[in-house]
Amino acid sequence: MADQMHLMQMLIHSASTHTLLSWADPADRQLAGLRDFAYWQDLAKTLERGCFDAVFFADSPATHGVYQGSTDASVRYGASWPNHDPMPLVAIMAAATERLGFGVTLSTTGTTPYLATRRISTLDYLTRGRIGWNIVTGFSEAERAANGSTFDFSHDERYDYADEFMEICYRLWDSIPPDAVEMDAGKPRFADSDRVKPVDFQGKYLKCKSVAPVLPGPHGRPVLMQAGSSGRGMKFAMQHAEIIFGIQAHVAGMKKATAGLRQAALDAGLKHDPVVLYGLQPIIGGTEEQAQRRADELIARIPLDAILARLSGVLGHDLSQFDPDDALADMDTQASRGLMAATASSADGKAVTLREAASRWALSVAIPQIIGTPEQVADRIESIWREVGCAGFNLSPTTNPNSVHDFVDQVVPLLQARGVFRREYTGTTLREHMA
Ligand SMILES: Cc1cc2nc3c(=O)[nH]c(=O)nc-3n(C[C@H](O)[C@H](O)[C@H](O)COP(=O)(O)O)c2cc1C
Repeated sequence: MADQMHLMQMLIHSASTHTLLSWADPADRQLAGLRDFAYWQDLAKTLERGCFDAVFFADSPATHGVYQGSTDASVRYGASWPNHDPMPLVAIMAAATERLGFGVTLSTTGTTPYLATRRISTLDYLTRGRIGWNIVTGFSEAERAANGSTFDFSHDERYDYADEFMEICYRLWDSIPPDAVEMDAGKPRFADSDRVKPVDFQGKYLKCKSVAPVLPGPHGRPVLMQAGSSGRGMKFAMQHAEIIFGIQAHVAGMKKATAGLRQAALDAGLKHDPVVLYGLQPIIGGTEEQAQRRADELIARIPLDAILARLSGVLGHDLSQFDPDDALADMDTQASRGLMAATASSADGKAVTLREAASRWALSVAIPQIIGTPEQVADRIESIWREVGCAGFNLSPTTNPNSVHDFVDQVVPLLQARGVFRREYTGTTLREHMA
């Protein structure tokens, strides 16, 4: 196990954070921040001051419309709507920082490999290697409908398609040897055209014929991240990802998932343990009672309809048709199998009702809340890290920017004092931070 943990901060470019209706809380500033560069730059500078490895932008590219067969509840409550693009924020936030890394979600369903590498690599070049791509395969029906996509792939075939998508990305990234770009004004020769080979790929699903569009960043390829946790999702992660995100509702689930990922790494012939970050949501107060009151106050505002609108989209089932007090049947899904498993799993093996499952999706995405004083939060984070043996955590905020400020100002110094989190960056790129 490494000496120090890694921390990323999960953000979304929308009215709410993962805490539903956070925009309606008096402490919230994110709604106004949707039209304010300074809001996002302040968040970035705060996280860099806290020596975070990276910001992690989750993304729902389109509004869930599975619940009651409509987008009404999502729109009414601002739940998975609006769907602003995270990419411009990365540029804005990177401009205000020098070391902070950025993980940004981009789905293989809504774009082409050429356009994806162009967008991601432009940011990677501009930031000198601070970019990671969270590769998602487009589990949401809403995304396919919004793009008029004719894909009708099953869960596993989406990953086959994504394998081919990545093959083209690798060819584009690897087609420019770093020393082939000469930029020699004297000759004048920009690059050695004999060594910059155009890609010409024709696969089962995809084609690409082009010279790579963007100059390579310091490591050639950006950092690749992935969060699929079904069997096929893990296989994809082992083949492509340097960092894996896990969502588990409890520590027992994290331990089991970590063992599963280690086995998948062995099966894939990898020589190192996978780098896994689990989602956690700190809720900090001056006293334990104040922290609990804050959590209760945030939950009290959230109607069941708002939660079910999001959860129905994620699980691919219209949950309005279920009795909230029925056990969440172990249903299959063509949407997110990993999130389905995390939602339906209990530490004690008892069946989880739909109402209980919904309560896991109110404040965030089926991850544990760590509620208490800064000392209690630091204790719990350290003990989970040691017990699970993971690389670190992807933290979910409640209201922003105050919950991020509180963590950086009150919890990070405690983790640093215990020697379990860096006091300063030693590298400049995201890959170096995560090494
Ligand atoms: C921590 C975590 C974060 C995720 N973030 C996103 C996201 O921002 N956007 C998205 O479309 N899917 C997201 N997903 C969904 C997964 O990337 C994956 O597509 C989905 O879980 C289906 O794969 P599976 O059935 O193999 O688990 C996330 C999943 C996890 C566990």
